Amino acid sequence: MTRGKFVSLEGIDGAGKSTHLNAIAEWIRERGQAVLVTREPGGTPLGESLRQLLLHQSMHPDTEALIMFAARREHVMQVIAPALQQGTWVVSDRFTDASFAYQGGGRGVDVVHLNYLAAWVEGGIRPDMTLLFDLEPEEAHRRVLRGTPHPDRFEKEQATFFRKVRAAYLDRARAEPARFCLLDSSHAPEAIFKQAQQALERLWA
Ligand SMILES: Nc1ncnc2c1ncn2[C@@H]1O[C@H](COP(=O)(O)OP(=O)(O)OP(=O)(O)O)[C@@H](O)[C@H]1O
Ligand SMILES: [Mg+2]
Repeated sequence: MTRGKFVSLEGIDGAGKSTHLNAIAEWIRERGQAVLVTREPGGTPLGESLRQLLLHQSMHPDTEALIMFAARREHVMQVIAPALQQGTWVVSDRFTDASFAYQGGGRGVDVVHLNYLAAWVEGGIRPDMTLLFDLEPEEAHRRVLRGTPHPDRFEKEQATFFRKVRAAYLDRARAEPARFCLLDSSHAPEAIFKQAQQALERLWA
């Protein structure tokens, strides 16, 4: 059985991940692969409970990082690894890069801790491709306000926070250019989707 491919979607709040998630999964399905769509934080019953805490309960940044990675471990062990093992492709709205961007870049959690947690929690399960939806924080904020009546703890953060998150994402993309595909989210959704398709084609190469 060939292992499935793992695709993650990343970017600051309002950058367009959820807009493209199902269309990307559907496009992969049309190419003959079984696809599981999931998200972080979340993806399991426990993960979804932890998501509610993470999005609405204030806490120390280290605690936030630890809960994110606890939810991720559950997600990897119960959902992602078994799916990939069966040959199913996994498309996830966020994965580990989000912790380096939000808890690391945004909140200042020591990257040494994040690297340790990532190595433990991933256990070798890493995305084959990461689509990074890149957008100016000001525009992303305008889009969040248009689409979300009740912003969560992260969506309520200021532009300075999202500038740091975005910079951390871009650093990760620069460090691993073969895995990352940078998408300019200032464009129209159709143009972004086309760019994503071109990148995803490489997974069959
Ligand atoms: N290319 C685009 N141009 C203009 N508006 C867009 C574009 N892509 C998405 N939007 C709109 O921007 C808003 C935020 O998009 P979306 O929910 O996909 O972002 P997200 O990355 O999933 O954010 P979050 O991290 O908060 O879940 C939505 O209202 C969506 O309709
Ligand atoms: Mg979303």
